[in-house]
Amino acid sequence: MKYGHFNDEDREYVIDTPATPLPWINYLGNEGFFSLISNTGGGYSFYRDAKLRRITRFRYNDVPGDTDGRHYYIQDGCLGRDEVWSPTFLPLKKPLDRWRCRHGMGYTVFEAEKKGLSSTLTCFVPLGENCEVNQLMLENKSAFPKKITVTSALEWCLWNAVDDSTNFQRNFSTGEVEVDGSVIYHKTEYRERRNHYAFYGVNEPLAGFDTSRDAFLGKFNGWDAPQAVFSGKSGNTETHGWSPIASHRVALDLKPGETKSLIFVLGYAELPKAEKWETAPVLMSEASPQGKAGVINKKPAKALLARFDTDEKVKAAFVNLKKYWDALLSRFTVRTGDAKLDRMVNIWNQYQCMVTFNMSRSASYFESGTGRGMGFRDSCQDLLGFVHLIPERARERILDIAAIQMEDGSTWHQYQPLTKCGNADIGGGFNDDPLWLVACTYAYIAETGDSGILNAPVVFNNVEGTEKPLFEHLRRSVNYTITHRGPHGLPLIGRADWNDCLNLNCFSEEPGESFQTTTNKETGVAESVFIAGMFVLYGNQYAELCERFGDKTEGSQIREEVATMKKAVLKDGWDGEWFVRAYDGYGKKVGGNECAEGKIYIEPQGMCVMAGIGTQSGEAKKALRSVKDKLTYKYGTSLLWPCYQNYHLELGEVSSYPPGFKENGGVFCHNNPWVSIAETVVRNADEAFAIYKRTCPAYLEDISDIHRTEPYVYSQMVAGQEAPPANQGEAKNSWLTGTAAWTFVNVSQYLLGVRATHEGLQIDPCLPESFTALSIKRLFRDTEYDITVTRTGAPGMTVDGKSITGTIVPLPAVGAKRVVVEITV
Ligand code: BGC
Ligand code: NOJ
Repeated sequence: MKYGHFNDEDREYVIDTPATPLPWINYLGNEGFFSLISNTGGGYSFYRDAKLRRITRFRYNDVPGDTDGRHYYIQDGCLGRDEVWSPTFLPLKKPLDRWRCRHGMGYTVFEAEKKGLSSTLTCFVPLGENCEVNQLMLENKSAFPKKITVTSALEWCLWNAVDDSTNFQRNFSTGEVEVDGSVIYHKTEYRERRNHYAFYGVNEPLAGFDTSRDAFLGKFNGWDAPQAVFSGKSGNTETHGWSPIASHRVALDLKPGETKSLIFVLGYAELPKAEKWETAPVLMSEASPQGKAGVINKKPAKALLARFDTDEKVKAAFVNLKKYWDALLSRFTVRTGDAKLDRMVNIWNQYQCMVTFNMSRSASYFESGTGRGMGFRDSCQDLLGFVHLIPERARERILDIAAIQMEDGSTWHQYQPLTKCGNADIGGGFNDDPLWLVACTYAYIAETGDSGILNAPVVFNNVEGTEKPLFEHLRRSVNYTITHRGPHGLPLIGRADWNDCLNLNCFSEEPGESFQTTTNKETGVAESVFIAGMFVLYGNQYAELCERFGDKTEGSQIREEVATMKKAVLKDGWDGEWFVRAYDGYGKKVGGNECAEGKIYIEPQGMCVMAGIGTQSGEAKKALRSVKDKLTYKYGTSLLWPCYQNYHLELGEVSSYPPGFKENGGVFCHNNPWVSIAETVVRNADEAFAIYKRTCPAYLEDISDIHRTEPYVYSQMVAGQEAPPANQGEAKNSWLTGTAAWTFVNVSQYLLGVRATHEGLQIDPCLPESFTALSIKRLFRDTEYDITVTRTGAPGMTVDGKSITGTIVPLPAVGAKRVVVEITV
């Protein structure tokens, strides 16, 4: 069953009903100001950091769900319950004569109509601005004049989202607001240590306002029945403490056929300390018998509001946003004859890569924004799918990530986006982390040719004065693996080895103890075949960087280390039919046929084959055959088989989930592209593409009732083959997942086969025979590549008419704007 449809031309997903299985959301904002917005107007906004600068309040896992957000109440004529409705459907839940929600690139539009009054609410964050614009267009389609009242409401968050939802003894006394004309300012804690405030304004005079939540809602009411709306009277309240909100009331007259718009703007401003106040707070003294609250400096807010106070200005900003996305998405486009494939590659997969780049795993409808900030390995992998979009931002991100590395090559596992400092609650010791830095740096240089990044000075652990070139950081990453090996010569596993739930030194019997960060027993022998595979793949990439841009001798030393690691994998990391996952704290196999549960894991099969291990000697194909036989089912490839029915003290969290969910044998979408890429390595195009399709949301649109999450983006997990039948195929944790970047890497670089290399653009598709003709446009180092691929059975390539051997289009002459590549396969 479907709940909407794709509109590829406008790059939108159009949702026809508020009653999607879960809220289907979108993201607004690209750099500083961000909002989450659901198909019923729910969600929240923050500035840079969803934990430390939360602007509006959102209650996760509340009932009913998704009722916090931007609320608009449109009252048409009299006060009868039936005459008041919401353009976003929620919070009023009033049936409408017409309704739909269109999620587009960085914007969401709600169209509604009731009894001859129609509304179009357009929500977006303009480029380069710290605000969300909500333009509400109303049209009187009836034959009679209408008297309309529009009431808005949103609830402020007291900045730190964790304190906001826990520290009530303080919070209920700190809230402060100012009301000035049609603008409501939220200035909690501004008098002390904050140099920022938020504001919510509208470009019309007010007929009333509220800032006290209690006064606005009235006793016993929720957002679906505010007293101020149904009594027809705002309280004009200026709250002190409790829960500050912002609500405007605007009265309008609409003649038949007339259209009017209201522009609501939710903004954020930061001021230099010296310019914080228009009038500083006044002490009570003999000269001034009345103390006086300070008046905040509203200049930046007013300037911002003035930039969006007319429809023309809003339209221009909206057009700019569209143009921005047109330009970004024109960097890689494809026509394959398969509309679902095209829309994922051309639109939604790239869009999701931008969102994961921005958010890492911080703020979604499943990630509360209060826990993890930016993940080290997460952000490194996100860059793989993002680097072609805005290379300059990728560069900046690589340097930020490298700055949380320790001198010994290990890394913090996460950092807060606002402070950019490592997160001490989680710490380090995740031994796969450092190697991911090589992966993203290599990809960045292949994309841009900017090997200069290797010389950029970067601190260790954010300590000034410890700067070393990025190259040195990579060296320490690689050496960290070399110097941390166990009895089989395989890398020591450390914590949560890519798989958050493989906790081989944890041995936890204490409820609530963190699986990931607790080390109760470090026997020094738990090893990872997965990291070994990574070392072969990324060790080789590092060696190549040395050979091209650094020290050749070092390059060959690393190649030797890689060869040694490869041998270790083929000796002790091979189980006969597939690659072993790890050795536990007792030195026993994890993911071997001898194990009663968890005989085979997906990760080493994907990683080792991607690294080229066993491609000559046959192990690669065997491993992939086992993946197909043991792990693959209708809805994807499960993480492991058979699922753990028992809790294994020596394994940790992986055995804590019910069978078929999350890492315990769910389809963990992130690693499905690894085995798909692996299939392209052994040139098995049919299975590579079949794997791609099984988890690709656009192909699942027709079963949205089973899949449940948005059909336009990937989710982290789909319940696996051993989940109860009623749950099979059900997805969770949409949007913020490494799946976005890895599926884009897979589809663009391996299935379509267009890969940035140091020597030029490689084009080497690996698609089923049913694809007979492709056309691809790719912007690579400022040159546009116009590529056609035709299936003729006689492989060949011409570049600008000249025949070329191999699969790499050599870098064109400097300044070349366009290159025409014709390929036959
Ligand atoms: C959970 C894992 C999960 C990960 C990402 C961890 O804290 O325990 O099960 O995969 O977060 O969501
Ligand atoms: C999500 C985490 O963010 C990521 O770091 C981890 O690799 C996967 N889950 C797998 O457990």
